Amino acid sequence: MTATSSYGALTNQGASTNIAWHHTSVDRDARAQQRGHRSAILWFTGLSGAGKSTLANAVNSALFEQGLSCYVLDGDNVRHGLCADLGFSDADREENIRRIGEVAKLFLDAGVVVLTAFVSPFRADRRRARALVEAGDFIEIHCAADLTVCEQRDTKGLYAKARAGEIKDFTGISSPYEMPEHPELRVDTGSQSLEESVQQVLTYLISQGVIPQAS
Ligand code: ADX
Repeated sequence: MTATSSYGALTNQGASTNIAWHHTSVDRDARAQQRGHRSAILWFTGLSGAGKSTLANAVNSALFEQGLSCYVLDGDNVRHGLCADLGFSDADREENIRRIGEVAKLFLDAGVVVLTAFVSPFRADRRRARALVEAGDFIEIHCAADLTVCEQRDTKGLYAKARAGEIKDFTGISSPYEMPEHPELRVDTGSQSLEESVQQVLTYLISQGVIPQAS
């Protein structure tokens, strides 16, 4: 059984049956009107250590200071709860990203600028997350620090462990990272400053009419 949601895409192709879509009287447009800004999904992708969480958090702070509704969904944090049952096999990553895509879609409907910081290494998984929402609502941001830089940083000591064979399926070492071919934004988190990267994202959001120009 499938149903069309108030925000477009098909839902419920899974196991549950006899459920209908419940329409809410407060829709996304009403929320945007009240808050003075659109919602969007900012999908940060890149290698571990590329600076996804750092950049997502810094952008989130800037949006928050402007009084905008925003929220960060972060891989390391979400894997403590919602996705605590998942590991790093290809299938588990696919399920991780599927859940995040669905959660991000709920935030979008709730009128929030949601920033997701997940390695999300597979193009097909990112494409599926994108396909859940309308064009323009999904902004893919490639944090493009390359492997050499990420491995040199090794902020969590995981690359050293992966090289030593202590972590299997580690992205960039023993599991692939499929670079985005046409991201809305590519941010050079390997060499430019955090401030420059934040500015690049904010400028894009303003140019797309997602957020107003800061007063
Ligand atoms: S994803 O591939 O499913 O998108 P996610 O972003 O949730 O990954 O989690 C990645 C984080 O988990 C990394 O930043 C790193 O701290 C940690 N991690 C632990 N094991 C691995 C692994 N095998 N590959 C990549 N990251 C790992």
